[in-house]
Amino acid sequence: MKSGLDLSNCAANQTIARQRKIARNFQPGDIFIKNNRLTLDLTYILNTPDGQPFITRDELDRLAPLLLENRRKLLSAEGDCLDGGVPMLGWVTLPDEITSQHLDQIMAAVGELSGKIDAYVSLGIGGSYLGIEATFKALSHTFFNQLPRAQRGGAPEIYFLGQNTDPDYFRDTLDLLAGKKVGLNVISKSGTTAETAIAFRIMRSLIENRAGARAAEYVFATTDKVKGALRKLSDEKGYRTFVVPDNTGGRYSLLTDVGLVGLAMAGVDIYEFVAGFRHAKKLVTSNDFWENTSLLHAAVRYLAYKKGKKIEVVATNSMAIYQLTRWLEQLFPESEGHRGQGLWVSPALYSEKLHANGQMVQQGERNMLETFLKLENHDNILAIPDDPDDLDGLNYLSGNGKDMNYVNRAVIDGPAYAHASGGVPNMTIAITRRNAFNLGQFFYMMEFSVALSGYLAGINPFIQPGVESYKKAMFALLGKPGTEAHLTEINHRIAQMSRTIIPSA
Ligand code: PA5
Repeated sequence: MKSGLDLSNCAANQTIARQRKIARNFQPGDIFIKNNRLTLDLTYILNTPDGQPFITRDELDRLAPLLLENRRKLLSAEGDCLDGGVPMLGWVTLPDEITSQHLDQIMAAVGELSGKIDAYVSLGIGGSYLGIEATFKALSHTFFNQLPRAQRGGAPEIYFLGQNTDPDYFRDTLDLLAGKKVGLNVISKSGTTAETAIAFRIMRSLIENRAGARAAEYVFATTDKVKGALRKLSDEKGYRTFVVPDNTGGRYSLLTDVGLVGLAMAGVDIYEFVAGFRHAKKLVTSNDFWENTSLLHAAVRYLAYKKGKKIEVVATNSMAIYQLTRWLEQLFPESEGHRGQGLWVSPALYSEKLHANGQMVQQGERNMLETFLKLENHDNILAIPDDPDDLDGLNYLSGNGKDMNYVNRAVIDGPAYAHASGGVPNMTIAITRRNAFNLGQFFYMMEFSVALSGYLAGINPFIQPGVESYKKAMFALLGKPGTEAHLTEINHRIAQMSRTIIPSA
């Protein structure tokens, strides 16, 4: 018997092939654009298998003028968009404003650090974390860090910390960093986010212990241009800094230095990424409502909510794309969840979840809308081998040359039909393939959709005042100076509750 797994029948891994390519100055041609169109399929919104539309074309048409007016407001920096007096609409025009010189500067800084390190750690939470990890995972090999460096396109290993305060997770990550030259990027717009700041303290002390007086060479800081604790510290220590613009909130900041630096470090083609955003921005300006996917997406979600849908299951057929559903889980609820309103976003990977809460999607409470992110073409083709005995009955696939990609498309098409039949209206955003252009388009389309959604609901989708409440309570319980009065209030309230803690027998 041979030792090890014989892969001689498998073609080369195309995700690795993509990683080997070095980022270049990308310009999309017409054919490329045509082959990389995102589509929005509303079949199971406008019809159901029993013939009853969930939402009619008329209802959408009636909403169109309001959407077009809200789009006008977004494009002219109007509407309920202020945070601390600043209109938070920098992200709207950013795709056209970003210059290739700026991207070149990022590439140069990243190239310099990358050459000195084995591993890069991105520190941040929320908008300073999720989009970067989502894009990295969507475009990279699942086991990126375990591949030889050449197969990673020369990129260092990539890690994320600061997104929670779990000491076991942190310690486990340190095990993987042991003995390696580590560089980091601490990302925080405010500069005071506790989770990020704690992670930075630990990582900074480790880097200082190793590199001594040269520690600053291994640290990037991405924060406000002039103010905040992290800006002050960076200036004192002499870190290389990148900027989070004033007029762009965390969850809308992926195309700023917040996202671009880490993505460039991971070998993502940031020129292509920007081109995707730019293309989607162009599409948003279409006055034809029925061609404008951002407007339609916002309209369908709004009407679905008005018709009683409270949960949006966002399901994909791709492990890599799954991280995008986690980004949406932040973008939409953090923007829409105000004043007792908003759809709860529930990320799902199919088939996995079809054998779990898929039962509830099919037959549970009918309070769900479903949105599929369908990856049409995976990077790799895996044939299903023929079997003369056919005991599992799969030769109808193998015999007809159908591969795993073919099956994995049906993992969306099947549930779309079945769930609609069971009373869960659904729409499908199809992504032709995993590339930076498609992701850029997707991110911009979603950012625009949620901004429209906020305006439709009459709330400001660029602030998140609710997030402050947990911080206030946590800091008081941690004994942060200045929070004494709040701690007294919390303790008083808790003392009035009947605490009910039941020990297991
Ligand atoms: O969308 C947002 O604004 C938030 O999710 C922030 O990005 C998150 O709270 C992190 O904030 P900061 O970058 O200030 O550390």
